[in-house]
Amino acid sequence: MQAFPDELSSREAWLEPFDWYREMRESAPVRYDPSRGCWDVFRYADVKRILGDDGTFSVNPRLADDFQEPERPEEGLLFETMLFKDPPRHDELRGVVDDAFEPRAIRALEPEIRELATDLLSDALADDRGELDVVDDFAYPLPVVVIAELLGVPAEDREQFKRWSDTLVESSSADDETEAFLERQQQAQMEMASYFFEMIADRRESPRDDLMSQIVTRELEDGSRLSEEGALGTCILLLIAGNITTTNLVTNAVRCFDAHDLFDELRAEPDAIGRAIEEVLRYRSPVQAMSRVATEDVTLRDAEIESGDRVVAWLGSANRDERQFEDADAFVPDRSPNQHLGFGHGTHYCLGAPLARLEASVALEELCTRTATIETVDADLQPVRSSLIYGVESLPIRYERS
Ligand code: HEM
Repeated sequence: MQAFPDELSSREAWLEPFDWYREMRESAPVRYDPSRGCWDVFRYADVKRILGDDGTFSVNPRLADDFQEPERPEEGLLFETMLFKDPPRHDELRGVVDDAFEPRAIRALEPEIRELATDLLSDALADDRGELDVVDDFAYPLPVVVIAELLGVPAEDREQFKRWSDTLVESSSADDETEAFLERQQQAQMEMASYFFEMIADRRESPRDDLMSQIVTRELEDGSRLSEEGALGTCILLLIAGNITTTNLVTNAVRCFDAHDLFDELRAEPDAIGRAIEEVLRYRSPVQAMSRVATEDVTLRDAEIESGDRVVAWLGSANRDERQFEDADAFVPDRSPNQHLGFGHGTHYCLGAPLARLEASVALEELCTRTATIETVDADLQPVRSSLIYGVESLPIRYERS
């Protein structure tokens, strides 16, 4: 996606963009930003309409007038996946994996996810420091290992797998030579691609009971199967779409629960964690914005959007819109109803939502059970380096064990 709007370019602004969103919802709910060459849309009703109308607002970046081939090598592969395809191709591609992510299939993974969360916490709580980093010690490794297990990556390769995944989600930064960054990315992508190509060949030859086998053997509507590149793109999409987002959901939840003194309450009533996580998805949405391209001239409020224009739908702002949510800037852990757009809406509604919800609730249940107190250490929070993902790079907490 294009760079940040100028208004959010400072660290402070991106850590707390919500006042700016409010101003924009009131004064310029649909505005054109000449410096990025795209439209920004801030109100709930408009964001929902854009995500729900893929005839008018396409996910295909190639339709944009100012489209340029991406610098990051894996993006080209991603453009062939469901995330960047409109129906009917989208539905066909999503159909290759969607049953594996249905709530019933995902519920069956709970014991494994719990074991993994417990192991990670046992390690993190082992050395009696009384401090841990929520991101590095817990929220980051959990989803990477879960998706590796689902795909069928053997246990002994998971560390390597995690390192590739780290590199792929890393963004370039001002103090990083772009060339060195691109080289690292290319190297990781090549290694990971050749690893996956081997796995793909192996599962074609002798399918097993894992997601990789499903990705390579499932028939498409015309009886064909995904090409090697198609299968690889799907794997990378699952990694990229599922890991950093879930990490930030868990981290943002710890921030919210601490800020609102909820840990004791949630320890006493773990069943309330699920609903509190929905409120985190609304209040500090791990994905703040999604991009679309207008496929025809369209008027939104008083804005004349032209075919080929890029449109950024600000989920993070929609989720704070007073027109939809009473007391929208308050964190209400048992908010109901809570029709947030944290997982998107419509055709591209998050495939991994049931998995993300399960991982986050198990992670927070275990964190609550195994500690008697938690407080975030007053640290200089650094926002995640991404114009789309919202969270912090690291979140140190002090705890007492239960
Ligand atoms: C799509 C958010 C976790 C896989 C989306 C979209 C959002 C989103 C907003 C819509 C994109 C659009 O409209 O263009 C999140 C959040 C997560 C999360 C906040 C965690 C808290 C996951 C996980 C997986 C996953 C765990 C899989 C392992 C996907 C896929 C799509 C998607 C494949 C594309 C669906 C499609 O195009 O039909 N996600 N996601 N996500 N997500 Fe997630």
